[in-house]
Amino acid sequence: MRINSSGFALLCLCVLPSLISSCYAQSCSNYAFSNNQAFTSCADLPYLNSYLHWTYNTSTGLARIAFRHTSADSSKWVAWGINPTGTGMPGVQALVAYQQSNGSMRAYTSPVGGYGTMLQEGNLSFSVLDLSATFNNNEMIIFATVAPPSGNINQVWQEGPLVGGSPSAHVTTGPNAQSKGTLNLASGTVSGGGNSKLRRRNIHGILNAVSWGILMPLGITIARYMRVFKSADPAWFYLHIGCQLSGYVVGVAGWGTGLKLGSESAGITYSAHRSIGITLFCLATLQVFALLLRPKKDHKYRFYWNVYHHSVGYAVIVLAIINVFKGFNILNPEKKWKHAYVGAIIVLACNAIVWEIYTWYIVLKRKKAERTEKMPHDINGRNGYNGYDTRMHHDV
Ligand SMILES: *[C@@H]1O[C@H](CO)[C@@H](O)[C@H](O)[C@H]1NC(C)=O
Ligand SMILES: *[C@@H]1O[C@H](CO)[C@@H](O)[C@H](O)[C@H]1NC(C)=O
Ligand SMILES: *[C@@H]1O[C@H](CO)[C@@H](O)[C@H](O)[C@H]1NC(C)=O
Repeated sequence: MRINSSGFALLCLCVLPSLISSCYAQSCSNYAFSNNQAFTSCADLPYLNSYLHWTYNTSTGLARIAFRHTSADSSKWVAWGINPTGTGMPGVQALVAYQQSNGSMRAYTSPVGGYGTMLQEGNLSFSVLDLSATFNNNEMIIFATVAPPSGNINQVWQEGPLVGGSPSAHVTTGPNAQSKGTLNLASGTVSGGGNSKLRRRNIHGILNAVSWGILMPLGITIARYMRVFKSADPAWFYLHIGCQLSGYVVGVAGWGTGLKLGSESAGITYSAHRSIGITLFCLATLQVFALLLRPKKDHKYRFYWNVYHHSVGYAVIVLAIINVFKGFNILNPEKKWKHAYVGAIIVLACNAIVWEIYTWYIVLKRKKAERTEKMPHDINGRNGYNGYDTRMHHDV
């Protein structure tokens, strides 16, 4: 049991930092444009080291965009486009850029007629203003203001070689064949790539719901009910510690993502959610330290320690579940996520009710047996679960 629970905590410790760092590492939201341009939304596109930044003006229907391609070089062209009529190449309305032999950048529009046509210059089906391109530090950026179709649009992005100074056919396998997805400039949702902020909000939600909202209540259930069974000692203790510690590690990671999200959304504060989150972190940290300061089983202060430990523990669970629901209201994910969490809580609660009744039954039966056996030396000398009767001092 000891190995299982600490192994699990260790696994969390190893997996989480990489999960978290991969969420932040290639995030477009930390990028600063050299000319002080700022965009309200961005997406890390999933292939070809590409990023899309944009600001959508709902009243004009115009979007100012910047398409960035890192690890670019002067022997390649880059392109970003929208396909208003389909998902493949034919019909793509593209913005193309490459470096000319004299060193200046060329940026132009090209409607792609079909497979095999080589990015001829031409007008697009929507208007394009202020088109330009830059190439610095191995990074090509296409800037433009476009009037794209509204709603979900199909976007594609691409890179390919220059032959004789003009764009030539790109590779049609691997990432070059997968570099497409849908985009909604007005709502900021991106498929295929994933709006990095949205993705981090989802990770924040999952980490916190699992740790504070499920693992910790589960760990309390284990402590409360398993220790009634003498044969489950000391397994219940290690399972309890395993659940709470891994819940704490995952929970602190989730808490950190929350602080980061909070610091990024200047102007929008969810003060109740934030305050409860900070309170939870303090109370849970206190519990971890309380574990270290725990008096021995038969110490006269152990009773008071139990009172403190149990009341803080139950307070954490109540606050955690409230905060998960507050989080659902803020994040407003698909209904199925909320349903899944409500389902998990109902399972935990039903489980607790059944165990509550059953363990009371066991404890009362045990008491009765002891009384009829009249073995006074055994009343306080019971081994197996903390040396005192759980049921009698339990509900503090
Ligand atoms: C949208 O464009 C209109 C007209 O140019 C401008 O007045 C307004 O400030 C723009 N809104 C935003 C949020 O940039
Ligand atoms: C570079 O070459 C292109 C096309 O050959 C030409 O249009 C452009 O003016 C040139 N730029 C400079 C800075 O010479
Ligand atoms: C693109 O549109 C402009 C203005 O509407 C027009 O002058 C030009 O000839 C068009 N170019 C092509 C290649 O059709």
